[in-house]
Amino acid sequence: MNIKSANLVYFTGTGGTARVAEAFERSLMKRSITVQRTELRGATTPVVFEDMLVLLFPVYAFNAPKPIAEWLKKIQPVEGRPAVVVSVSGGGEISPNTACRTATIRHLEEKGYDVVYEKMVVMPSNFLFGFDESLSAMILHATPVIVDKVVAEIMEGERHRTVPYGIDRIASKLGYLEVFGGRIFGRYLKVSDKCANCGWCEKLCPRDNIKIIDGRHIFGNDCVICLRCVYGCPQKAIEPGFGKFMVVPEGFNLSKLESRMDHLTVYPRISQATSQSSLRGVRDYLIESNCFKL
Ligand SMILES: Cc1cc2nc3c(=O)[nH]c(=O)nc-3n(C[C@H](O)[C@H](O)[C@H](O)COP(=O)(O)O)c2cc1C
Ligand code: SF4
Ligand code: SF4
Repeated sequence: MNIKSANLVYFTGTGGTARVAEAFERSLMKRSITVQRTELRGATTPVVFEDMLVLLFPVYAFNAPKPIAEWLKKIQPVEGRPAVVVSVSGGGEISPNTACRTATIRHLEEKGYDVVYEKMVVMPSNFLFGFDESLSAMILHATPVIVDKVVAEIMEGERHRTVPYGIDRIASKLGYLEVFGGRIFGRYLKVSDKCANCGWCEKLCPRDNIKIIDGRHIFGNDCVICLRCVYGCPQKAIEPGFGKFMVVPEGFNLSKLESRMDHLTVYPRISQATSQSSLRGVRDYLIESNCFKL
């Protein structure tokens, strides 16, 4: 494919999708492709479009998060411009995740994009339960390898489209209920007296959903359960009043995981690191990366 410039447009809550976008940026730049990287902060986030669009998002309830569809509704139609859709999840390409890109691809095609490639990338999970350190390190190690392979295939003109399971299409549609869940989740977020009033959460909520007025936190109706404020508050002062089960009890911090990974020299076998049946999508992904022994 003759691509000279590309847009990387992504939504991220806790940084996993941002890491994947950075890996795409490095891989594309290695091939002398100019890259514009844009994090979505709202439906009207401005983007000057280049030769190819790479759209990345974390999987939320077997679907793309609301900010993706919102932004796609606002963009101008094009004629056959190539697009790549990358979903990022803790579970991998297993049921019911297989239809998580379907709605996004449909929206892109309605706008005239030619979706040439779709891919699931795995990141350490920030939802329900965390991964242990060695598994997280293996996943982070695999990211640039998988992304480089994807970019090489795209540049060679390979098309990669998947067919989701029928049942997963239904699950993905039900995932829209998460939009309502977000309203409730946001409404019931609680701030404890550990709060130091630093303003970090107000500044960094990707939905501008937090306002601090006279030292009081006001949460709006636009929460998407990205969990950034819950995990990121430096005082650990924010906790859910509703949906606490969704939050990894020991917290989630990718930068810390990355710094600990530097000291790891020996990795377990894939079969050992992913022995739980819930990790079979992660196992397939690590096998695909060819970085570790089975
Ligand atoms: C509200 C919510 C719903 C999620 N739903 C799924 C899911 O359906 N399938 C899955 O594999 N991972 C799910 N995850 C995990 C995230 O997709 C995963 O941790 C991702 O790497 C987060 O990306 P981010 O760090 O860019 O926000 C969910 C996470 C959140 C916060
Ligand atoms: S990030 Fe935490 S400490 Fe800072 S203002 Fe928000 S709740 Fe308070
Ligand atoms: S209020 Fe918290 S969980 Fe909700 S969108 Fe903002 S940062 Fe994310």
